[in-house]
Amino acid sequence: MEFPCGKNSNNTSQRTPKIFILVALTFIILGVIPLHHTSKWYHAKDLVNHQSKKSPTYHMEDMEIKFTEDETCDIFKGEWIPNPDGPYYTNTTCWAIHEHQNCMKYGRPDTDFLKWRWKPKGCELPIFNPYQFLDMMRNKSLAFVGDSVGRNQMQSLICLLSQAVYPIDVSTTPDENFKRWKYTSYNFTLATYWSPFLVKMKDTDSDGPTKTGLFNLYLDEVDEKWGNQIEEFDYVILNAGHWFTRCSVYYEKNQLVGCRYCELPNVTDLPSSYGYQRAIRTVLKTINNLENFKGITFLRTFAPSHFEGGEWNKGGNCVRRKPFSSNETTLEGFHLDLYTIQVEEFKAAEKESKKKGKRLRLLDTTQAMLLRPDGHPSRYGHWPNENVVLYNDCVHWCLPGPIDSWSDFLLHMLKLEGRRSHKEKLQFIKQWS
Ligand SMILES: *[C@@H]1O[C@H](CO)[C@@H](O)[C@H](O)[C@H]1NC(C)=O
Ligand SMILES: *[C@@H]1O[C@H](CO)[C@@H](O)[C@H](O)[C@H]1NC(C)=O
Ligand SMILES: *[C@@H]1O[C@H](CO)[C@@H](O)[C@H](O)[C@H]1NC(C)=O
Ligand SMILES: *[C@@H]1O[C@H](CO)[C@@H](O)[C@H](O)[C@H]1NC(C)=O
Ligand SMILES: *[C@@H]1O[C@H](CO)[C@@H](O)[C@H](O)[C@H]1NC(C)=O
Repeated sequence: MEFPCGKNSNNTSQRTPKIFILVALTFIILGVIPLHHTSKWYHAKDLVNHQSKKSPTYHMEDMEIKFTEDETCDIFKGEWIPNPDGPYYTNTTCWAIHEHQNCMKYGRPDTDFLKWRWKPKGCELPIFNPYQFLDMMRNKSLAFVGDSVGRNQMQSLICLLSQAVYPIDVSTTPDENFKRWKYTSYNFTLATYWSPFLVKMKDTDSDGPTKTGLFNLYLDEVDEKWGNQIEEFDYVILNAGHWFTRCSVYYEKNQLVGCRYCELPNVTDLPSSYGYQRAIRTVLKTINNLENFKGITFLRTFAPSHFEGGEWNKGGNCVRRKPFSSNETTLEGFHLDLYTIQVEEFKAAEKESKKKGKRLRLLDTTQAMLLRPDGHPSRYGHWPNENVVLYNDCVHWCLPGPIDSWSDFLLHMLKLEGRRSHKEKLQFIKQWS
């Protein structure tokens, strides 16, 4: 397996050809792995209905949002600081860990990467409190929509919640890419929708010019697998990115407009960022236009991979054992392109959403994850002798691991929603009194 998308790639990816590959590999893993190692999910039913046990480690004071400076603190800018209390679950207390992210099982020798927490500049971000989260989720539903990094986040959330209670499997299909869980005592539903491009996609050639598949992407239509079902949810967390370097043919208004490394005669080669921007725009616009959707949408920003010393398929690996400080690295190349597109498209869509009384938020994990080259499975996502496509996984995140902090962010944002709606109510009353 060479370059993911053909020889002509050099013409169009002047910026960071390297990164394409890194990213490209993701799809491979993302695509191939979910089919295997899923047996754990099937045992879930056996483990359900553990009565929630009150844990002494959660105090009422954790429930408050503490600000050391002001309310406008940007929780997404900060540093990782030591946290001797971590981790909050292990592979023996949580069955939801995906095989390839069960790093301790496969012999990861170090545990320091489990002992950090995110400290925003100017305020505190409390560690996730499962009881508080579940309390807020009473009678609510939450969907994860996107690729396997989104699934990674959902499994992290299930594991964090397993400190309190386990869900039961209420999936309506045996397809592992579309799971549905219920926390019965809270009447809380958690669902996952596999949609790595978010837009409508047809897998036209499972081989493609470079054996990583060739996809037709309909950049102005969302993937109906989630698009038709999302209205029922109170919260939706969207993500996409890693798959957009794959060989793809782009369609708009059902007309072929170009492609990414498709090597088809007379088809214009466009950068991955073209397809990505159009796709994100379509997705946010569609959600803004969903008549019956009353929920809150979170666009989760790109989580960078960390291959060093080579490309993903040329010996690249992630062997660092501690986080970067924010002054040691910056986002660049294709990762920066993706992030910029997300932020720009988010801002544009947010304006529209406000006009329509919709709620759209940015779950801006990029900077925090950029600083965690130590958090990936690397070669500890499988046995050493196993023949896997992505031998060194520097894309996904070990569980437990730094991705657990995404739930800290999420809970914090949910609390802010509570405040925000309170304020809006007060404003409304003031206006009319
Ligand atoms: C959990 O990790 C330990 C190493 O810390 C390993 O020996 C064990 O097999 C793992 N168990 C499961 C269920 O993954
Ligand atoms: C959840 O729904 C039930 C039944 O509709 C209702 O009795 C209960 O008050 C609701 N709880 C919350 C926290 O909304
Ligand atoms: C569960 O929540 C839904 C809303 O999501 C509500 O319609 C239903 O009545 C609740 N059921 C129970 C048993 O509380
Ligand atoms: C490609 O375009 C050229 C010039 O317009 C044309 O002569 C040729 O037939 C086209 N090839 C295909 C396969 O459409
Ligand atoms: C980065 O910041 C840390 C303090 O957070 C400091 O100790 C270190 O010297 C700085 N490194 C560089 C390369 O500026």
